[in-house]
Amino acid sequence: MTGASPDRQPGLAPSAWVLRFAGLVPAGGAVLDLACGGGRHARLFLARGHRVTAVDIDTGGVADLAADPRAEIVAADLENGAWPLGGRAFDGVVVTNYLWRPLLPLIAASVAPGGVLIYETFARGNERFGRPSNPDFLLAEGELLRAVEGRLRVVAYECLEVTEPRPAVVQRIAAARDGSGVSSTASPREHA
Ligand SMILES: C[S@@+](CC[C@H](N)C(=O)[O-])C[C@H]1O[C@@H](n2cnc3c(N)ncnc32)[C@H](O)[C@@H]1O
Repeated sequence: MTGASPDRQPGLAPSAWVLRFAGLVPAGGAVLDLACGGGRHARLFLARGHRVTAVDIDTGGVADLAADPRAEIVAADLENGAWPLGGRAFDGVVVTNYLWRPLLPLIAASVAPGGVLIYETFARGNERFGRPSNPDFLLAEGELLRAVEGRLRVVAYECLEVTEPRPAVVQRIAAARDGSGVSSTASPREHA
């Protein structure tokens, strides 16, 4: 799902869904912000005291975070290259406004025991409001539920029309991997 997007604007507010479930990420744990754009959620979790790995094909939006020792910036083409994170697992995995279906199993597998996946993106019906309108980039009914089924425990799920921050049809999930909550990926710097 390439191309310019308003979500790459610096200073864009965090998603209300991500804010709502951010507290489920174990304190001090490592967070993955996949397809991070301008890094609104990377910044949110850094401010909350987490280590953050921010991945995008274009890391220009998070270049300013490179000086932060708690931030790991990974430039990777998630759709045409190898999965850039090996077998690493994270206490929080955040994906917003991005969909590349082949990654869904890897995303669910990237949640460490005790960790949580917070995912929100556009769903079918959004074509009424504009982009994305390509079905490849729109979740089908229940698709996020199926993506975590047998892997993670669903904490909350919604598929609905919203008006904020702009009219859209979105699907979103918060789903946890039950476990000790003490695992998590090693320090980003150990993997750099
Ligand atoms: C709509 S923006 C969402 C940004 C961020 N998640 C947010 O919600 O603020 C989509 C992001 O996906 C990234 N992206 C698109 N295609 C990609 C690819 N093949 N590999 C990695 N990132 C990609 C874009 O660079 C962009 O930053």
